[in-house]
Amino acid sequence: MSILIQNGILVLPTGPIQADLRVAGGRIAELGPGLAPGASRVIDAQERLVFPGFIDTHTHFEMNKGFPNETADDWYTGTRAALAGGTTTVLDFAEPERGATLASALETWHGRADGAACCNYGFHMTVKDWSPSIRSELREMTAAGVTSYKVYLAYDNLRLSDAAAYEVVKAVGAEGGVVGCHCENGDLVTEGIRAQQAAGNLSPAAHPLSRPPAVEAEAVGRWLTIAELAGCPVNIVHLSTLRGLEAVRAARTRGQRLYVETCPQYLTLTEEKYLEPDGLKYVMSPPLRTARDCEALWEGLARGDIQVVGTDHCPFNYHKEKQLGKDDFTKCPNGAPGVEERVPLLFSEGVLKNRISVNRFVETVCANPARIYGLYPQKGILQPGADGDLVILDPAAEWTITHDKMHSAV
Ligand code: URP
Ligand code: ZN
Ligand code: ZN
Repeated sequence: MSILIQNGILVLPTGPIQADLRVAGGRIAELGPGLAPGASRVIDAQERLVFPGFIDTHTHFEMNKGFPNETADDWYTGTRAALAGGTTTVLDFAEPERGATLASALETWHGRADGAACCNYGFHMTVKDWSPSIRSELREMTAAGVTSYKVYLAYDNLRLSDAAAYEVVKAVGAEGGVVGCHCENGDLVTEGIRAQQAAGNLSPAAHPLSRPPAVEAEAVGRWLTIAELAGCPVNIVHLSTLRGLEAVRAARTRGQRLYVETCPQYLTLTEEKYLEPDGLKYVMSPPLRTARDCEALWEGLARGDIQVVGTDHCPFNYHKEKQLGKDDFTKCPNGAPGVEERVPLLFSEGVLKNRISVNRFVETVCANPARIYGLYPQKGILQPGADGDLVILDPAAEWTITHDKMHSAV
């Protein structure tokens, strides 16, 4: 069965054009003006924008499974929410137990996602330990389709030393993969938390104070030094600050190749949220920042300093898991949802408010993710032969995000 999308505004890399597009056998068969309907089912996309399916580079479905801080979305509810928001591919983080093999995590994540997911998916692999035996697994991971890894410079139970991070970047680079990093200075975060606790500051308002912008900026600079010495391009995930962005620009000026992701929460919300009665909802790391940081990130997106907007969808229910932190913010599981809201928010706050062009929008929500993670040109572009994952978006539609309209379990 083929489908003809008629009269839409197709968002191509060269810009939007008014044309038709046919999908047959799950792939884009042709595009151009005045395509004959033939036997195709016809969808009228008059005054609608037609995009390649969006790719969310950063989700955490069924994370911490079996623990009180398990994320609220399983692979069904999480990908259902993704699709409802126009995201047709998610890249989730497989996480081995400390001391366990990468293969065990991949098997576990496939066991959860296979047959349960509503949309396309792939996995990054988190590296919590580094050893010759983990090193020897990389070839097998590449063969299994895993080419992206994440390391942490923060969280005492997750982080690697700088030397281990360097080894990971070099080894993954040699395999043709890329490593992303959670850039916060772990020692300084631990000290920041200790200082807030010692002062009796246990409310969510203390969360951003315990990990200020300098903590991110230092780690971004260190991560990029590690990458420079290793001689490999790297990713920076969930960048939240102007100071971090300045470190990125400095590295690029020196000629380094790197990719940067930010998230809708860092573009649209500020640290005043921690003062609200439900401030626990916003306990995530890195934390929300200032309006000046938000503006700097928008500017970074517009200028192409930031390549990707992913979500870091890490959902916890306010009345359940988040309440672990009701008497002490340090006990609150870190993270917030966003997989369904990402694209509408970025379109509304970015394109419709003239902060970014529609072309920059499509680059950050699908074309660049596809390029960086090896999915291009099967995904991320409207052209014959590409997957028939499409989004038709009405730029004039207005609605308010309310819980009853959402599809996540959070
Ligand atoms: O607070 C966050 N971001 N939780 C999810 C894990 C991570 O660091 O990406
Ligand atoms: Zn992270
Ligand atoms: Zn994350």
